[in-house]
Order: sequence, then C-alpha cells, then structure tokens
Amino acid sequence: MPSLMDTYSRFQIAFVRGEGSTLWDDSGKSYLDFGSGISVTNLGHCNPAVTEAIRRQAGLLLHTSNLFIVKEQEELADLITENSFPGKVFFCNSGAEANEGAIKLARLYGNVKYSGARYKIISMYNSFHGRTYATLSATGQAKVQKGFTPAAGYNVYVPFNDMEELEKAASLGDTAAVILELFQGEGGVLSADKQYVKRLRDYCTANDIMLIIDEVQTGYGRTGKMFAFEHYGIEPDVMTMAKAMANGLPMGAFLAKDRFARYMTPGTHGSTFGGTPIVCAAAKAVIKEMTRPGFLDKVTEKGNLLASVIKEALGDACEIRGKGLLIGAGTKHDPKVLAEECLKNGLVVITAGNGSVRLYPPLTVSEEEIKDGASRFIKSVKNLEEKTK
Ligand SMILES: Cc1ncc(COP(=O)(O)O)c(C=O)c1O
Repeated sequence: MPSLMDTYSRFQIAFVRGEGSTLWDDSGKSYLDFGSGISVTNLGHCNPAVTEAIRRQAGLLLHTSNLFIVKEQEELADLITENSFPGKVFFCNSGAEANEGAIKLARLYGNVKYSGARYKIISMYNSFHGRTYATLSATGQAKVQKGFTPAAGYNVYVPFNDMEELEKAASLGDTAAVILELFQGEGGVLSADKQYVKRLRDYCTANDIMLIIDEVQTGYGRTGKMFAFEHYGIEPDVMTMAKAMANGLPMGAFLAKDRFARYMTPGTHGSTFGGTPIVCAAAKAVIKEMTRPGFLDKVTEKGNLLASVIKEALGDACEIRGKGLLIGAGTKHDPKVLAEECLKNGLVVITAGNGSVRLYPPLTVSEEEIKDGASRFIKSVKNLEEKTK
C-alpha cells in the first residue's frame, strides 16, 4: 500500500462487485455481506431503485452549490421530517460532520440564549461520535482520543444508563447538551434502558438542555424502525444521521426542532458538498423504499430469526444483543480473529468493542440468506472453539 495513509488495519481482501447481500472479491470468491459496509448499504448492493435514481440524476445535474435553491434537498428534508419529527435539516457528508454540526448548534444555543454560561457537552463512556476534533472529544473512549489529547475541554463523560451521575454532572447549570447513542454500536451494541431514556428526556426538557440523539449507526431501518428513538417513546431535540442515508454515497445530516434550529442563521454553518443533488436523489429513493408498507416490520422478523438461529446453536457460547438487524454477538474469541474466520467461511462481519462482532446484513436480506449466514457464523465460532481446545 505505498501511497495510502496507514490508518486502518485492513483485511487483505479486495471486493470488486456487489449485488443484494452478496459481494465478490478479485479472485471471484463470493461472500455473504453481514456488515453492509458498517450499516451503510442497508438496501443491499446496487439496489435497483437507488441505482436508477443516481443514474437519472447523474444525467441531469450533479452539483450546483448551496448558494442556490436545491430542489432535491427541499424534497428530501420534507421526507426526513415526515418520517421522524418536525424541524429543520442541515445536510453534510458524514456522521462526524453531522455530530460536529449538532455540537456547534448546542454551543450556539448556549452562547446566544445563555450568554455563554452553558457550554458543556455531556456524553457517555464507551460512546462513539466520530473522528473530527469536536466529535472525538465527545467520544468517551480513550483509544479514540489517544495521541490527540487534550480533548476539547467542554466535554464531560458519564457512565451509560446512569441518571444519577448525569444529573450530578449537569447540576452546575453550565450544560448545553447531552449526546447519546440509544445503541452503542462501535461500543459493542449495548442498548440504553427505556426508563433511563425517559428520565433523561424529562430531565433535559425540565432543565432546557438540548438532547442530541446520534442515529448515525441506528438510523434508516436498522433496528426495525426508521429511527431507533421510536422504540423509546421519546423525541430528540436534535437527531444526527449518516451512513445508510444514501445507501453508500457519502451523506450526513442533522435535524433540529425549530426552537433550536432557529439559531442557525445565514453564515453560521455550511458545507460545499452537503446535500448535493446526486446524493439527495439517492437518499430520496432510500426513504421511498424503506417506507413501503411492511418493509420495516420484516426487519424485526428477520432480526429475530437471525438471533434465534444463532442462540439455538451456540447457547451460552454467544451473547446476542441489539434490536432488529442491529445485532452484536459477544463470544470469548478476539473479534478480529472471529471476523477473519468468518471471512474464510465466506461471511463478512464487523468487529466492535466489548469482545463483540456486529452482524448487520442488508435489511433486504432473504430468509434463506439469513439461515446461510447464521450457519457460516456458527461454523466459524465452532472452528475457533476447536482450535482453542
Ligand atoms: C454512532 C456513530 N456516530 C458517528 C459516527 C461517525 O460517522 P462517520 O464515520 O461517517 O464520520 C459513527 C461511525 O461509525 C457512529 O457509529
């Protein structure tokens, strides 16, 4: 890899083609893709509706700039709010940028409404919010911050699912926002408790603290709902999204309720490529596909099937966590070694924290593919059990 910066420890496989749940490498070997990038190609590789939308828009107009009206953006923003909650959307290009924008909005809110007296961002240990400076600072993991400290000093970290500690941290009255993943994906697919989330929502409302829900990994159908907050009976003040938005084209966004969004005025924030017509066209096609009647209910059924087949075969040797097709599988094996073994057996999975791998097949995966992928996973775990006996 002579000219590539060495920031990833890559598996030595080069994929050259994909269709639905299947990938092919440059030697012609096929794999079942139970990673979907990292929850990006949620509608499968080369989804016909998305491919057609991209093709059509590519022949019309790729880019103008945000100095002009972009109709595709306006239509997409309406589709997003219709499928989540009312507010205003800002388009960007990645999850980190979406969180960066949400953090900027929190700072702006604290500066303008509270004359700078509210500036702290509270986040959770074991969280992941991105690799830019503001987002790695909000990320409660030493390994992500290593080499880049001191992190931005306005961040405070508290244990996940611990309301007492959060209230203690916020008691000084200088907190602008709390940022939370409802399922800590990178952290090993650990879920927030329902009661905790309800209490947190009430606390933020009562104390005028902005509640940012990071749906970068959980959003776009992965958990069996369009967005994971729907499982919790709450609404965020600000929601960030990216990954699966355009099924593989780079895109991110944050959606803020009007009472917060109104602080973002011309000149406060911007992005050259954010919401360019070609990605918006793909993103509109994604929402249209995912909102077809019954689509999201099937995700729940598929997730239950995948989890139950694995549980039945592996029992205590594998702890299954998550919701829908956001599945974390914890075993006693090193996640990287298990992922390597899965690859040998023609299955792509993703490593995560907490001794886990993630099983994130495309939401379009068939029952047959679920059973096939599950059996490849079971075989891989059993092979490692044999090797370590
Ligand atoms: C919850 C969460 N937030 C933010 C990010 C950062 O997204 P990106 O890599 O697109 O910057 C990720 C990426 O894995 C994520 O899982």
